[in-house]
Amino acid sequence: MIPLNNQVYSVIWHNDAVSLIDQTRLPHEYALVEIHRSEDMARAIKTMIVRGAPAIGIAAAYGIYLGAREINTSDRELFLERLEAVAAMLKATRPTAVNLFWAISRMMKVAYETLGSVEDIRQALFKTAQDLQIEDLQTCQAIGDNGLKVLPSNPEKLTLLTHCNAGALATAGYGTALGVVRSAWREGRLNRLFADETRPRLQGAKLTAWECVQEGIPVTVITDNMAAHCMQQGLIDAVVVGADRIAANGDAANKIGTYSLAIVAQAHHIPFYVAAPISTIDFDLTNGSQIPIEERDPTEIYQVGTTQLTPNGVDYYNPAFDVTTANLITGIITERGVFSPSELITLKEAQTV
Ligand code: MRU
Repeated sequence: MIPLNNQVYSVIWHNDAVSLIDQTRLPHEYALVEIHRSEDMARAIKTMIVRGAPAIGIAAAYGIYLGAREINTSDRELFLERLEAVAAMLKATRPTAVNLFWAISRMMKVAYETLGSVEDIRQALFKTAQDLQIEDLQTCQAIGDNGLKVLPSNPEKLTLLTHCNAGALATAGYGTALGVVRSAWREGRLNRLFADETRPRLQGAKLTAWECVQEGIPVTVITDNMAAHCMQQGLIDAVVVGADRIAANGDAANKIGTYSLAIVAQAHHIPFYVAAPISTIDFDLTNGSQIPIEERDPTEIYQVGTTQLTPNGVDYYNPAFDVTTANLITGIITERGVFSPSELITLKEAQTV
């Protein structure tokens, strides 16, 4: 089965359940996983069946609704107490992407503020999860179009470089960084996308490349350590990446390897853009050193399929994200426009929780 009309939706409400594209099986197999219970949603986020900051926020929002359906009481206080436990379970899945916590907070606020019966709260939660999804899709399209306006005007057809997957799979659809690439492609301004493979989980090689193939976007996959060479060869006009959490000063956490990419981009005077919704900004954090960095299982480093790459007896360190400091970022592309890192704070009022 292939996605309908080349549109990719990572999370869909269908047949009274949530359908997730199983991103651990792409690119070889396009399979949907049906999620009926909040506990299974937590597992799907943790195991990265669904991944990418906005997508896990939307998945968690539906997880809260699924949890609300499982709570068998008409007592409002007891219901809210149990819903808090569901929220805690979902929050414990992945620590770095703030969209997860932002979406859960928004759902819980609705739960507390909805007057009426427990069933009224359930209905309000369902509507909020759907609203979040629709808003994210519109947000990504705006990010794509805003990004296109600030990309270099020369050459006419640009070669862009991205890292990890910040595409439709990582959002409600269209993507953030890949949204900018999509908009450039649709407006005839894209020559080609270079996609870092993104060790260790290979989201670039597997997911970004897959999305490009679906849409006919010319894509060249390189290993992460080839990016500097490509820049030195004059192959790259601009870099566009996503983000999992941006501190108030503009420091941005994204997939491990983004920081080194930003350093080499600066060394080659190549613009480096971060594309993210305003919900990815954590105004509670003054700088990036306060962003919690997820550490994942070392098997991701040393095992490919069932084959172990390394000798026994070595140690591993597997941080899933790094922080690109604000001084390396040319601009942050949001649904409200493009901002220098120091201007981000002006967006605080625009953030809805
Ligand atoms: O570990 P992942 O695959 O969830 O990491 C994803 C990224 O780092 C993305 O670049 C980020 O979430 C932005 S998605 C629009």
